[in-house]
Amino acid sequence: MLSLGVILSADLVVIGLGYVGLPLAQAATLSGLKVVGLDVSSKIVDGLNSGRSHVDDISDTEVSELLTAGFTATTDASVIDDANTVVICVPTPLGPEGGPDLKYVLGAAATIGEHLKAQTLVILESTTYPGTTDEEVRPILESASGLTAGLDFNLAFSPERIDPGNPIYGMKNTPKVVGGHTGACTTRAAEFYRTFVDTVVEARGTREAEMAKLLENTYRQVNIGLVNEMAQFCHRLGIDLWDVIEMAKSKPFGFQAFYPGPGVGGHCIPIDPMYLSQNVRARLGAPSQFIETAQAVNNSMPAYVARRTQNLLNTVGKAMNGSTVLVIGVTYKPDISDQRESPAAPLAQELASLGATVTYFDPYVENWQVDGVDTHRATDLATALTDSDVAILVQNHKILDLELISRDAPLVLDTRGKLSGPQVERL
Ligand SMILES: NC(=O)c1ccc[n+]([C@@H]2O[C@H](COP(=O)([O-])OP(=O)(O)OC[C@H]3O[C@@H](n4cnc5c(N)ncnc54)[C@H](O)[C@@H]3O)[C@@H](O)[C@H]2O)c1
Repeated sequence: MLSLGVILSADLVVIGLGYVGLPLAQAATLSGLKVVGLDVSSKIVDGLNSGRSHVDDISDTEVSELLTAGFTATTDASVIDDANTVVICVPTPLGPEGGPDLKYVLGAAATIGEHLKAQTLVILESTTYPGTTDEEVRPILESASGLTAGLDFNLAFSPERIDPGNPIYGMKNTPKVVGGHTGACTTRAAEFYRTFVDTVVEARGTREAEMAKLLENTYRQVNIGLVNEMAQFCHRLGIDLWDVIEMAKSKPFGFQAFYPGPGVGGHCIPIDPMYLSQNVRARLGAPSQFIETAQAVNNSMPAYVARRTQNLLNTVGKAMNGSTVLVIGVTYKPDISDQRESPAAPLAQELASLGATVTYFDPYVENWQVDGVDTHRATDLATALTDSDVAILVQNHKILDLELISRDAPLVLDTRGKLSGPQVERL
């Protein structure tokens, strides 16, 4: 636990030390800033202060290096009192009704407001709908502190673009978009990020910066929805969509390849476009047709994959009921352990509801818990393949032996277009 006597001032306080906040704290610390991480979870804070990382992209060794470089974590919000800059990196999940749940952002804003001093720069990085910084965060900060944004303190929004597991693009070489409450707020926030990010791009204001993030993620959500729908009708038409995409990709301009899959996961693609569509509906009473259609198609994929698996079993005279289905890779993206919103979970529920026994193989996931499904972990891929009636490649981690799967699976549905062989059927 942090001793307050030690912290006289911080260049930066990062609020929320998760997948986004910890890499930010790392980049800022290594650039020479004095950084304190503030989190409500004492487990996370104690772990970090003891040199333990809970985030895939950051190793224990790197946490130890951060501690040596002066980083500390705390649950004590009084560190904000003397901070030069405060960045909010707390979660923005969906609420029970499927709309934005801003409780963590509002909670963090209230905490900052109680400790805010004149001249501080406050930046929101959590993904959210346009207007949040100005209409939700600013009033809380101003009423709790008695200070005025743009006059007494600076306020900005800067969307996080972190891509966990990406070996090429990290904090330093991914351009950072910044939009301030005033022009001076933008300039100050841009200067702050330039200390550890190569390129900073200035938006007209907070709403444009908020919307830019939603455009990026909606673009991906809609294009994934498009190829997922194409996968369904190409299969019925006897057209190999994977080959089609390779052909289209040969055009050097005007086309970007997206690939079908078992559904979308993570905390961006399934969630961020819903923030936008709910907000547009609430404000304008109008639907966001592309977003809602893509969401419906993407959400239908786990059930579609289960149906295709059932049909595959039928080709060898087996029923899904009573069969053992091996799900290979259960995380939402390759090469990481993060299972949030992974389509593997609704897929397992579909398979179980059809009477299958669900086993899984994923070297990154020791304990896979899916509501209502008794999942069995396989630790040896070769044995698991032999023991199953059918396998489904859901996530293609680099460490998976794809040749072994192609060769030894009795039957396999490949949702990633990575396998080939007589027993393999691609989505
Ligand atoms: N993870 C990603 O790949 C990614 C990428 C881009 C954007 N984002 C966005 O970044 C934001 C943060 O996501 P994340 O994945 O880092 O979340 P996370 O769940 O990994 O971490 C959030 C942390 O915030 C802490 N927290 C919650 N409320 C708090 C409070 N009031 N004060 C202090 N700490 C608090 C939690 O204990 C947790 O440790 C979200 O808006 C998300 O949509 C995430």
